[in-house]
Amino acid sequence: MNMTRQQKYRLIRQAEPGELRRLAELADSCAWRQTYHIQPHAGLLNDPNGFAYYGGEYHLFYQWFPLGTDHGMKYWYHVVSSDLAHWRDAGIGLEPGGPYDSHGAYSGSAIEKDGLLHLMYTGNTRDGEWIRHPYQCLAVMDANGSIVKRELPVIAEVPEGYTDHFRDPKVWRDGDSYLCVIGAQRADLTGAAVLYRSPDLVDWKFEGEISTSLPDFGYMWECPDYFELNGAGVLLLCPQGLEPDGERFRNVYQSGFLLGSPLNAATREFEHGEFVELDRGFDFYAPQTTEGPDGRRLLVGWMGLPDLEYPTDGKGWAHCLTLPRELSVRAGRLVQRPAAGLESLRGEERSFSAVLNDERRAFEGAEGNAYELRCTIEPSEASGGGVFGIEFRTGETERTVLTYVAGRRAVALDRSRSGAPVAPEYGTTRSCAVEGDNGRTIEFRLFVDVSSVEVFVGDGEEVFTARIFPDPASTGISFFADGGSAAFEASYWPYGGGAIPRGLPADIID
Ligand code: FRU
Repeated sequence: MNMTRQQKYRLIRQAEPGELRRLAELADSCAWRQTYHIQPHAGLLNDPNGFAYYGGEYHLFYQWFPLGTDHGMKYWYHVVSSDLAHWRDAGIGLEPGGPYDSHGAYSGSAIEKDGLLHLMYTGNTRDGEWIRHPYQCLAVMDANGSIVKRELPVIAEVPEGYTDHFRDPKVWRDGDSYLCVIGAQRADLTGAAVLYRSPDLVDWKFEGEISTSLPDFGYMWECPDYFELNGAGVLLLCPQGLEPDGERFRNVYQSGFLLGSPLNAATREFEHGEFVELDRGFDFYAPQTTEGPDGRRLLVGWMGLPDLEYPTDGKGWAHCLTLPRELSVRAGRLVQRPAAGLESLRGEERSFSAVLNDERRAFEGAEGNAYELRCTIEPSEASGGGVFGIEFRTGETERTVLTYVAGRRAVALDRSRSGAPVAPEYGTTRSCAVEGDNGRTIEFRLFVDVSSVEVFVGDGEEVFTARIFPDPASTGISFFADGGSAAFEASYWPYGGGAIPRGLPADIID
């Protein structure tokens, strides 16, 4: 963080000889590099972009500033997978620097048409007064992965009534035509999502705003997404400027969904319930979804937030993506499970089973910094006042603590002793109430990587995501029961290897 404007708005080819290589080497030597989460080889990653199943594989891009950990000149970097668990590098997806993206190829989405993957994104430019001008642009990728930008933007103007904060097109097919939702800020500085329609992805017509019951909900909505699932309509949005409200809205910016009836595209009416956060943890933003070949709705998020410093900033890299999640709507709720396919990351299983009564016990033989852990905790009937849970990444003084307060059916994640702090001014614990299935038992599925944890609660009822920056020696796992007794059943799988590539592709670095 803290580069000058000139340093931030450079292309790779304008860098000093060897500059990117040095940054990548610095990043590679960092003790907090992830092992199975998508992360930049150097520089800063933010939003997932262009997530699509195309040509028999999953394509995923991310916002990337290669030359530092500031939010500078944004590229799209491209990775590909056939199983959502193992990814390979496909190099630079979009290079900014053209007349309509001179200051960054900002977020956008992808859709297949006529056998080609169409990438629709926001080209960001700045004029002499540093005023921002957004253009919605199109690029086309063929089956060989070669990507060509269309010369002119497909939406060149911001419609009347909105500011220059107008970006992040998410496109989908609607019968014979295409719809696209764009994140916007109204002239009165409130956030909104607007709808466009096109017959061919090139000629777009402004339809108007999606009409929600949140006319004044933050000052900007970033990264909207809309899809239909199990007969419901779901609008994702990232409102900026919400005030904390009890356990809700504790992070610098929010990311959540409105679940309702399918959007009426003709009137743009969208009837929905309250805004619910997608993730109860600390580091989650700008998610994007796509539909898999089997009709499943998949979501990937940025495991980070804007405007905060992270402990790896001085090590040449920042942030990673979340694991893919699979969404469904169950009993009027949006449910998120780890995507099927992630089991292929597992090494050999070890299991643990015990009744703990006011005690703490280490999970002998299971420890590490990259693994999946599944644990069911069943408090005894008399243990309504007890607190039960798991401590992981434990060391001499460090621990990350996941607790379950049975009487209140409340789950909390505490990273106050997790190692190097991240934005402690926003608090070090996150919690929420859960419904669960039988009123007592709780199930946790944790994905721990070198500097992160994702906790799926129940059968995908809630998710807590957090970056953590412990000492490499803090590798312990233990289970505890305070003020009661509970039966613990756990399975542990060390990460089996091979999920993500190391080292920048040679053609980028040289
Ligand atoms: C969200 C966001 C988007 C924008 C992109 C720029 O994190 O601010 O609105 O397109 O990041 O990198």
